[in-house]
Amino acid sequence: MMSSADKMPTKIRSLLKSIPKVELGFFPTPLQRLHKLSEKYNVDLYMKRDDISGPGFGGNKIRKLEYIIAEALDEECDYVFTYGGIQSNHCRQLAASCRIFDLEPVLYLIGEEEPEEYRGNLHLDKLLDAEVNIVTAGAKEVDNISEKADKLAQERMKELRTEGHRCYDCPAGGFNAAGCLGFIEAFEELMEQTDEQDIELDYLAHANGTGGTYTGLEIGRKLLSSEIKILPFSVGTLSEDFEEKVSRMSKSVADKLDIDEEDVMIDAEEINVETRYSGPDYGVPYTASEEAMKELAREEGIFLGPTYTSKAMAGVLDRIKNGEIEEGSTVLFWHTGGTPAVFAGKDFVGDIYGP
Ligand SMILES: Cc1ncc(COP(=O)(O)O)c(C=O)c1O
Repeated sequence: MMSSADKMPTKIRSLLKSIPKVELGFFPTPLQRLHKLSEKYNVDLYMKRDDISGPGFGGNKIRKLEYIIAEALDEECDYVFTYGGIQSNHCRQLAASCRIFDLEPVLYLIGEEEPEEYRGNLHLDKLLDAEVNIVTAGAKEVDNISEKADKLAQERMKELRTEGHRCYDCPAGGFNAAGCLGFIEAFEELMEQTDEQDIELDYLAHANGTGGTYTGLEIGRKLLSSEIKILPFSVGTLSEDFEEKVSRMSKSVADKLDIDEEDVMIDAEEINVETRYSGPDYGVPYTASEEAMKELAREEGIFLGPTYTSKAMAGVLDRIKNGEIEEGSTVLFWHTGGTPAVFAGKDFVGDIYGP
């Protein structure tokens, strides 16, 4: 069988070379061994440091945005719209990336109420002078708050278009075919690093939100015929049609790359998102996520984000402790960022001062 090394170095990059892309990130991001935690838990634990991937405090969206911003420029847009929660990491990274290319970022941030103070990501959105629209839900509207944000955005786009502007509509989390390409490429980047450093990974764990990171990594894995088990960890309620959405997205990616669907199609049945560690709700911390945040800071000097990575890390550590990830395994945790939310206040971060 062909090893991933035989297929390297450019199988994926050659597929991507005709697709527009801008340079935003500091790639390759470091692949770091977590020595103390590896010893403590009797595994080989590595971290892929996308928390320091690039501008605006970095994060996993920078990889997606290299393709999304290029698509917006290719379509001659001058405004980029996007959506997220009030502490959205995606929105902050998109706003910072837009600034580099003289695009105007317009954000629709969904929150329970107008915040009294701008903190964490929201504070940075304001510093970036993004157009910040906070969409709050009345009691009756809670179920269709995203629709409300969409409707408001459509009205704003119409207004801008009549003034002669062109708007790029980026979905929440950068979950479109262009965005997924960034993580297909990321998988190849990781394989190059593990080959160079002679590391054989058993597991690749990451926090899951909209599914773009997972879609990209899984397609990359398929394209390079890797045997690594990818473990996506949910951080809130997983939408009922999540698997179908990812499956459809993998087809869109095949169309975009003009390759055989068979090579990259992700069947809904093969997707297995870990949902046991998502805590009470999206954006709400709980004891295990607070513990993971403290442990990584105090053992390794690494800050996890409260919304995504601390929950995923809580899951990884628990699965190591309960043997679902076997002793002696080689595990990669993809640090997808989200660290500015550490400054978002106790509601988002939880109790992280105590022992
Ligand atoms: C820090 C962090 N990790 C993980 C994710 C999940 O990425 P995806 O939406 O691609 O599943 C996000 C998305 O917003 C994020 O901000």
